[in-house]
Amino acid sequence: MRTILSVVAVFAMIAIGAVVFAPVSSADSGLVFNKCSGCHSMKRVCRELGKKNLAEWTDTVKRMVDLGTSINAEQVKTISKTLADEKPDGSAFCR
Ligand code: HEC
Repeated sequence: MRTILSVVAVFAMIAIGAVVFAPVSSADSGLVFNKCSGCHSMKRVCRELGKKNLAEWTDTVKRMVDLGTSINAEQVKTISKTLADEKPDGSAFCR
């Protein structure tokens, strides 16, 4: 029983580590572009890069969901994290 528990614990730590430390991938940029350029231009998003932290981006993205953006809870997290990590002019979807 103990062994099973520690195996589970190790896998859980690896999984959490992968989520927390995963670098922003181009797939995430694609997701942001696809989901956030429908109602307004990406400029609206890009001019806020580097100004909002993760909590503020999460609030913004949730507000966009209220306005009609169709993304699930997992995508809210991915998009908010991608935007919070993004440098003001360094992102693929702003060029
Ligand atoms: C269903 C239409 C729609 C979609 C899709 C959409 N937005 Fe918006 N967005 C709006 C509207 C309307 C406003 C202006 C009203 C407001 O600010 O609440 C806005 C304003 C903004 C602003 C400027 C205001 C602020 O709080 O900084 C940002 C940043 C923003 N959106 C980011 C995003 C992001 C990121 C996504 C993708 C997750 C997204 N939007 C998708 C409708 C949308």
